[in-house]
Amino acid sequence: MNVLLLGSGGRECALARKLRQSQSLSNLYIAPGNGGTLEYGKNRAIAATDFTAIENFCLENAIDILICGPEQPAVAGIWDYFQKEELKHIQVVAPSQKSAMLEGSKAFAKEFMTKNNIPTAQYLEITQDNLAHAYQWFDEKSPPYVIKADGLAEGKGVVLPESKEEATKLIDEFILDRKFGASSAKVVLEEFLDGLEFSVFIYTNGQQYVMLPNAKDYKRRFEGNKGLNTGGMGCISPVPFVDKALMEQVESQVIKPTINGLQKDSMPYTGFIYFGLILCQGQAKVIEYNCRLGDPETEVILPRMDCDLLALFQAGFSNQLESFNPEISHQSASTVMLVSEGYPEAYEKGFPITGIENVHQANVFHAGTTIKDFQLVTNGGRVLAVTGLGENLKEALFNSYDAIERIRFKGMKFRSDIGFEFEGD
Ligand SMILES: Nc1ncnc2c1ncn2[C@@H]1O[C@H](COP(=O)(O)OP(=O)(O)O)[C@@H](O)[C@H]1O
Ligand SMILES: [Mg+2]
Repeated sequence: MNVLLLGSGGRECALARKLRQSQSLSNLYIAPGNGGTLEYGKNRAIAATDFTAIENFCLENAIDILICGPEQPAVAGIWDYFQKEELKHIQVVAPSQKSAMLEGSKAFAKEFMTKNNIPTAQYLEITQDNLAHAYQWFDEKSPPYVIKADGLAEGKGVVLPESKEEATKLIDEFILDRKFGASSAKVVLEEFLDGLEFSVFIYTNGQQYVMLPNAKDYKRRFEGNKGLNTGGMGCISPVPFVDKALMEQVESQVIKPTINGLQKDSMPYTGFIYFGLILCQGQAKVIEYNCRLGDPETEVILPRMDCDLLALFQAGFSNQLESFNPEISHQSASTVMLVSEGYPEAYEKGFPITGIENVHQANVFHAGTTIKDFQLVTNGGRVLAVTGLGENLKEALFNSYDAIERIRFKGMKFRSDIGFEFEGD
């Protein structure tokens, strides 16, 4: 089978590696890819949202399966675009545009959860027209407040102000100053939930689904969960506090109602669903949906799946997901992100990366790298994700951190405390 994978991050590098191991793979192309995906397939300089160029490429290269890594092409409607006659023979791993609204619009997701009785925080939708209701909300409730830009904002659209004054200032910036453009013309206010966050993943064809490994990511830049939010500084799988009973609760109260909701509202879905959850006094509640795998979550989930990834997709297309075994390993996985100095604020790019060839006990997934003058160089804020596996979390972490000592680039930074709160478990 010929496969085109869209995206350019650590997630796509991990997907490319897994696809390369598939029995039925012929050619693998990644658009646009990065310095690491080259190892598993051929990079093509096509933007993941340039649908015309993607269409032409698919037809010229006899692509059988198109896999959408990131959210932007999904929200822009790549699945719907491929429903036209000339492209119908190509199987697409992506949600329909309507389904992708679960990620593309926080208000849409809240409405979906409410009407399907899926546990989530109380909320209020705010636009310029009812801005006064937001001020009233801040008067009546105590901080911290939760303010979310409705649309995509690259992980920067959620703020948790600690005072009424700050909340008022922030919502004015979102709505009146359009801090995130059209994405913040509407916002969602939410009840603040206090608890432990974790993420659950499925692969679905909209009717049936397969449970994938769960994970917990570390969003803040610095040790002890301090500093600015990032795309993710590290991740572990499985999550030590998530037991069988909790997974059963999530399946019956969140996953099944979500699948039923997709069917009721005629929302076609072929792909991964990422449930961002929070455990509050024994009750799991949904913080958000993502219509794709996470990054860095993918870098710990896929290495724990011993199945053939193309076989999983085929099982979805042929309605056989219910009997598909993802062969989830009993091993633990951890990934630690190596980032550029200054990230998530301004940073420099183009520094040579050395030492990856000396890593033997870990997988090094490239996130922001490229090849310049035959040399691997940094090309983003998040540069490499170093994944270790082990019989327990401690061993996995040892393998991640041991590998990191062998890798060098100018200004290389990372968090030294990924997963440590659970090391004794
Ligand atoms: N209702 C809430 N109560 C407490 N914390 C929240 C709530 N909603 C979001 N958060 C925090 O903000 C983070 C980002 O929110 P999320 O909805 O996942 O947005 P995004 O990932 O699109 O930025 C969450 O991971 C969580 O830490
Ligand atoms: Mg999130």
